[in-house]
Amino acid sequence: MPAQSSKAYDSQSVYSPGTLAIYDTLVLRISNPLVWRCPTSRILDLYNQHVSASHLDVGVGTGWYMDHCRFPPEPRLTLMDLNPNSLAAAARRVERYSPDTHVVDVLRPIEGHDATYGSIGVTYLLHCLAGDIRQKAVVFDHLIPLLAPGGTLFGATILAQGVPRTSAAVKLMEFYNKKGIFGNARDSLDDLRLALASRFNDVRVDTVGCVALFSARSPSP
Ligand SMILES: C[S@@+](CC[C@H](N)C(=O)[O-])C[C@H]1O[C@@H](n2cnc3c(N)ncnc32)[C@H](O)[C@@H]1O
Repeated sequence: MPAQSSKAYDSQSVYSPGTLAIYDTLVLRISNPLVWRCPTSRILDLYNQHVSASHLDVGVGTGWYMDHCRFPPEPRLTLMDLNPNSLAAAARRVERYSPDTHVVDVLRPIEGHDATYGSIGVTYLLHCLAGDIRQKAVVFDHLIPLLAPGGTLFGATILAQGVPRTSAAVKLMEFYNKKGIFGNARDSLDDLRLALASRFNDVRVDTVGCVALFSARSPSP
């Protein structure tokens, strides 16, 4: 588990064992359907649609989606996260797939990783990162070399602009942005579409509540 960075961003340092213990209830069972208005089942559908036999998940949290999605038989699974607590929790959850784990700051180029993947999941990662979508889209640049030809990068992110937001969503987003847990105050649907379309092929972006669900194929060589 090589460490790439020890910088303690709030976007990842919040994921202590205690936070991870309540994450599934707070985010997947309560906030997704009631606040962001995107049932967790919609994001699980995205996993079921796109996971391949060689899957890389980045920003893994508790690993709930990988635990519940349908992988092809005997998948090769790799997990990357800046926070070792998240990595350990997710790896335990999907122990049956013998995942590889790597402490990686995806805001920096990913060095010394030669493997490529048929699918890369980046669910609920972008809205945690600071900056606007144009800045945080460096994540895509760092992951493109890890995407096999014809492979799909997919994920979901909570947006602040260009999507309908309930008053509860506005308030909770403000609170999380103040705490540094989210960095999505300037994240817009237009910028997300542009960031994906300028890098990938076959881009698809759908919105459910204030969540954007996206998928994109590897760029042509
Ligand atoms: C909101 S959780 C998402 C968990 C999971 N994907 C889900 O949707 O349930 C965000 C995850 O991204 C990780 N993370 C935050 N900043 C990161 C960075 N710069 N590089 C890699 N991982 C990061 C956090 O440690 C955390 O595990």
